[in-house]
Amino acid sequence: MGKQETAAVRRLGAPRRAFTAMGDWDLPPSGPRAAGISGREGVAILSGRSAVRPMIALLADVHANLEALRAVFDDLRRREIRRIFFLGDMVGYGPNPVETLEFMKHFEFCLLGNHDEAVLKGPPKSFNRYAVRAALWTRKLISPDEMGIKALLPGEHARRAEHWRFLSSLRPARTLGDMMFAHDTPADPGSAKYIRSLKDVEEVFVARPKERIFFVGHSHVPGIFDENGAIVPEPGKKYSFDGRMIVNVGSVGQPRDKDIRACYVVLFPDGFRFHRVPYDIEATMRKIRAEPELDDMLAIRLAKGI
Ligand SMILES: [Fe+2]
Repeated sequence: MGKQETAAVRRLGAPRRAFTAMGDWDLPPSGPRAAGISGREGVAILSGRSAVRPMIALLADVHANLEALRAVFDDLRRREIRRIFFLGDMVGYGPNPVETLEFMKHFEFCLLGNHDEAVLKGPPKSFNRYAVRAALWTRKLISPDEMGIKALLPGEHARRAEHWRFLSSLRPARTLGDMMFAHDTPADPGSAKYIRSLKDVEEVFVARPKERIFFVGHSHVPGIFDENGAIVPEPGKKYSFDGRMIVNVGSVGQPRDKDIRACYVVLFPDGFRFHRVPYDIEATMRKIRAEPELDDMLAIRLAKGI
């Protein structure tokens, strides 16, 4: 591993209302999640043996940022990409958890992130105070049991119960052929452990001998890792699969690599490409500042990409 790559490792280690709101995004009649995807079909698609258009968007860490999600969707629509895998952290930090959840439950598959889990089970000790308050506030908006049924508008309890069921049904990882998708480390999905060092990378390769390519989220920092080190990916550049690798797809709703634009990845049968999309950060910041339960720091960090 060269000096530049070593520095990169260090850098990477640092650290239906919704549908109208989203415009006319065209979903399959049964809804992509209902359509599901079998392992065999997935492998056929990814290997180019399927008639299905093989481009799949990989999104992670939306964190209830509707403006960023909308901008990414517009970008996907322009590229005619209609298949989306989501790698966790739908909610937490951001001001639009309900709208985000209502939209994203139609994705082809969604994984559970540690912030989604914090809403379901209560925030863990490792959360900072901003994350704790945001998780508790989100829970108040989503949980069917947080308020008495009588305090809710007609239909609200059933809607919340459906959201809760959906969130509770998510898992922290999924495999598809020789690919694995996880929110945090594929070595121990659901542990909230980051991939930051070569040791973390080796741990994954040892723990998951059958899988070759890993896509993750969680750190909000885009990166490509292999047994030699890590690189900071260049947006727009096509990267080919070459041996075993771990790809952190970055964050849609709260990037932390000092690039404030939403980040996502497009997966092809033979490789992948990162994309960055500007969005109306001011609007998201205004909403965060207008909500007393969300700390101003959560708005400031969006503008700084940290
Ligand atoms: Fe996250």
